[in-house]
Amino acid sequence: MSRTKIGLVVLLSILVVIQFFQPARNESVQVETSNIATTIDVPDNVQAILQNSCYDCHSNNTRYPWYSTLQPGAWWMASHVEEGKEELNFDDFANYSKRRKLSKLKAMQGAIEDESMPLPSYTFIHRAAILSEKDKQLLKDWLDKTRNEISISEARE
Ligand code: HEC
Repeated sequence: MSRTKIGLVVLLSILVVIQFFQPARNESVQVETSNIATTIDVPDNVQAILQNSCYDCHSNNTRYPWYSTLQPGAWWMASHVEEGKEELNFDDFANYSKRRKLSKLKAMQGAIEDESMPLPSYTFIHRAAILSEKDKQLLKDWLDKTRNEISISEARE
């Protein structure tokens, strides 16, 4: 066999072997009692956008299409989920302090405005997660309103 062929066989074998090493899935069976909607008014249309575009990396439940179980993509996704949840978890939002809630809502506004979220490397495959102009406006209006309300209730305390 030529060196290129040997190289290809080795590469293919590695690809086959790594399929058996799947990362733990981000899937929760319990009812999420600390979801953002338990502490803040989240209209259905806003929640639908968040679920569609953000929850895969920022909640306790990721939707896994079949190709997401292919390695090394599954590791890549798992690391984003881990990192994303650490920064912001909509299923843990009710446990955040007021200060943290406000700072996360502000960060969301920034991420939506500068289009850094959802991650471009993710929307490259998950085209349906791209925020439309209408989605962005809806989220922006909701974030403005919510941040105001939290600030006001904070001032009262
Ligand atoms: C493919 C996974 C993925 C998706 C989908 C995703 N994010 Fe993220 N997000 C991350 C990761 C990873 C980080 C941490 C690293 C970084 O900031 O780039 C992060 C960080 C953030 C932060 C920063 C938190 C802070 O305190 O600075 C905000 C805000 C955020 N995401 C909002 C969103 C919103 C809103 C959506 C949906 C419109 C979304 N993300 C969709 C992976 C994702």
